[in-house]
Amino acid sequence: MGGVGRPGRASRNVNARAFRRPMRPGVFRRRRTVDTFTRVHPIQAVRWAPDRNAVRIIDQTALPERFIERDLRSLDDVCAAISSLAVRGAPAIGIAGAMGLVVSLDAFDDGSLDELRARIAEHVQRIVGTRPTAANLAWAVSAVAAEATRPLGSAAAALRAMRDKADALLADDAAMCRRIGELGESLLADGARVLTHCNAGALATTGIGTALAPVYVAAERGRRVSVLACETRPLLQGARLTAWELSRAGVPVRVITDGAAAAAMRDGRVDLVIVGADRIAANGDVANKIGTYALALAARHHGIPFYVAAPTSTFDAATASGSQIPIEQRGRGEVACIAGRAVVPNEVPVENPAFDVTPAELVSAIVSDRGVHRPPFRFDR
Ligand code: MRU
Repeated sequence: MGGVGRPGRASRNVNARAFRRPMRPGVFRRRRTVDTFTRVHPIQAVRWAPDRNAVRIIDQTALPERFIERDLRSLDDVCAAISSLAVRGAPAIGIAGAMGLVVSLDAFDDGSLDELRARIAEHVQRIVGTRPTAANLAWAVSAVAAEATRPLGSAAAALRAMRDKADALLADDAAMCRRIGELGESLLADGARVLTHCNAGALATTGIGTALAPVYVAAERGRRVSVLACETRPLLQGARLTAWELSRAGVPVRVITDGAAAAAMRDGRVDLVIVGADRIAANGDVANKIGTYALALAARHHGIPFYVAAPTSTFDAATASGSQIPIEQRGRGEVACIAGRAVVPNEVPVENPAFDVTPAELVSAIVSDRGVHRPPFRFDR
């Protein structure tokens, strides 16, 4: 689909118009979404560089001011891009890590298979260690590494098999997103007002996203859908990224502060909440961007359905419940500093957990590429 596109070809400012005259609180005028969808170029958050010796990513730290693509050519490049959130979102870091593993090993293709296998173990550990919460990272990187354990005869043959596997994961991720969109779009009635958090769209995957996939498919099919995007402190993925990609796709979007979400629900301006996930435990507990749990509580209080959308690669059958999910703790600077200015006194410590866990009992349904799962949750990976 062409719902998400390349900067420089931004669609008309339909967004401002769509929000100008509400039909009821939070519903906006019908717009020609489909036209917009078919004429913009898809976002490719992660892909091979033309020479296939580098992983090309959109540098998400620069959006929305600048659209910059970067080529990751070494282990250090790959680890730095994932740690700094230049590439981010559970599926996207999985694929970038898997492709990055291959690229980081290119120099070892004429050595021995044993030497390659030793390097693989070292590189896997470094890449997977960059971000602990998203199940997709370890899953995808391990799947590529496993190719080299087969009896392949040479390092070059092992690297070819690893590259083929990375290619397959790249294609599968996009296909899973599409499927989530098609399975989830029926949750969005005409006029649906969706609230989302962080960015679980095209920028976070190699396809049309997870939480935003049903939104894109519903809009593509001519339904009026509008989105309230929580800004998502401290790194503002909602304000910077979700707003950017929905706006250029022609989907009406408005940004609110995280603290405004519960009041929007109380005021009858939200029909449903859809978020992505970084890891889903066997019992249906969901780790996602910090602030998700508060949204789920508010949604339950106001009788609003709370949906999670995630591909198979996010499900972790080996983790029994959310209490066992490792939560990434990030640096002080992200919280204590805004636009280069200190906003927390130097002597005061901060906490910066990047994710929280929403208990399964607050989740109305989980939309995966395999179906719409309702509680009590039972998943087969
Ligand atoms: O820290 P981030 O920006 O990588 O966090 C991303 C999220 O929490 C997303 O909601 C999640 O990874 C799902 S992306 C399809």
